[in-house]
Parts: sequence; C-alpha cells; structure tokens
Amino acid sequence: MPEDLIYRPDRGLDRSQIGDLLTCEWIARRQNLVLTGSTGTGKTWIACALGMQAARSGRSVLYHRASLLLEALEIAHADGSISRLRGLLAKAELLIIDDFGLTPLTARSKSDLLELLDARLGTGSTVVAGQLPIKSWHDFIADPALADAILDRLIHSAHKVQLKGESMRKFTTRGSRSLSLVLHALLLTLALVNTLALRGQLAGGSWSATQRIVVNTLVGCG
Ligand SMILES: Nc1ncnc2c1ncn2[C@@H]1O[C@H](COP(=O)(O)OP(=O)(O)OP(=O)(O)O)[C@@H](O)[C@H]1O
Ligand SMILES: [Mg+2]
Repeated sequence: MPEDLIYRPDRGLDRSQIGDLLTCEWIARRQNLVLTGSTGTGKTWIACALGMQAARSGRSVLYHRASLLLEALEIAHADGSISRLRGLLAKAELLIIDDFGLTPLTARSKSDLLELLDARLGTGSTVVAGQLPIKSWHDFIADPALADAILDRLIHSAHKVQLKGESMRKFTTRGSRSLSLVLHALLLTLALVNTLALRGQLAGGSWSATQRIVVNTLVGCG
C-alpha cells in the first residue's frame, strides 16, 4: 500500500521522486518507469504501491512477472489468440512487468517484448522491474538490433529508481516475514488469476468490471 512505504534515502528511495510518481502524472503522460536493485531491495513493493495508487485513481493496471507474461504470449502464438492478447496488453493504462532479467529470453520473447513496448508507446505506461542494472540489459537481451529497439522504446524518457543496500527481508521480523510470504504467495496467485482472466477476456477483447476488480485486487496485495 502506498501509505506503508518506508522512505530510506540510503536505499536510493527519494521521498520527493516517489511522491511525484504517486501523483500518477507520469501515467497520464504515458511515461515509463524502470526499477532496479538487488534482491529484497523493494522493487515489487514499490511497483505494487504505484499500481495500487493508479488503480485507486480509476486506471486499468496489469501486473505480470516477465517470465509468465512471455509464456502467455508464447502460448497465444500457438493457439492463435496472439493479436487479441497483444491488443489487451496494449490497452492497460499501466502495465507492470516484474522480475525482468531473471529468465533468459527466447528469440520469440525478444520480438514479443518489442511488439508489446511498441504497441504501448504513447498509449500506456510500463513499469519494468529487475535486479540487473540498466547498463547490463543490452547484453542480457543478447541481440544488438533488438536490444537497441527494445531499450529505445522503454528507457527513452523513463523515470528511473535504482534501489540500493541489502535485502530488506533480512531486517523483517519472523512475523512480518511470514506475512510477507503470504502476501507474495497471494501476489503470485493473483498474477496467475490475472493471466487466466486476461485469457478469458480474449473472446470479448475489452475490460470488464470483473477484470478491473481482479486487477485492482492484485495491485492491492502488496
Ligand atoms: N519501501 C518499503 N517500505 C516498506 N517495506 C518495504 C519497502 N521495500 C521493501 N520492503 C520490505 O522488503 C520486502 C522485500 O521487498 P520486495 O519483495 O519488494 O523486494 P524485491 O526487490 O522485489 O526483491 P526480488 O528481486 O527478490 O523480487 C517486502 O516484502 C517488504 O516487507
Ligand atoms: Mg520482486
């Protein structure tokens, strides 16, 4: 929840920058956000807080882990629903792609990512969160032409938050760690529900009230 964010300047969390992001002005301007930092520094936490804030202001928000999103696109190629899935992903006012850089990208995933970012250019905001520093993303994509095209669409005019320090999980008490585990399990479950809801929407191809609720619940669980 945005109210629960703990600001620690030593962790790279600037209260005024986060305050600006919480106004959702950047989403109105269709700008992107890149969140980086090592494990446990709070990328998912911040992404979900911003997603929650966007949902509260009535915006459509989708949260996906990169691997599951790219897998859903891969399946959609196979079953012929790729155009509709792409259309639906392009429509979300805020799309959060978490854990980018954890799983190697296939050739198909790289071009899917490019198509997705291209479709969203000027029409929606995308948050990408990952452990790798931005300077390593080009090598991670490992295809110079596609990497240039992807990064140009994503990074150009993107806000950047680079989190520092040790994992905050180390400092959580046993009780709060258990709560955090429950919340993360819920997050992953809802990500799956969200994927299913997305796929269930393919026939209609539009945002239903149910989908908004699923999405709003999803971003509220952090
Ligand atoms: N700004 C914050 N305010 C309050 N608690 C936080 C904040 N950032 C992180 N935490 C706490 O630290 C835990 C770990 O944060 P989070 O899961 O967001 O890390 P992460 O950077 O996404 O890690 P990973 O790369 O492993 O996914 C959270 O469950 C939460 O308890
Ligand atoms: Mg995370």
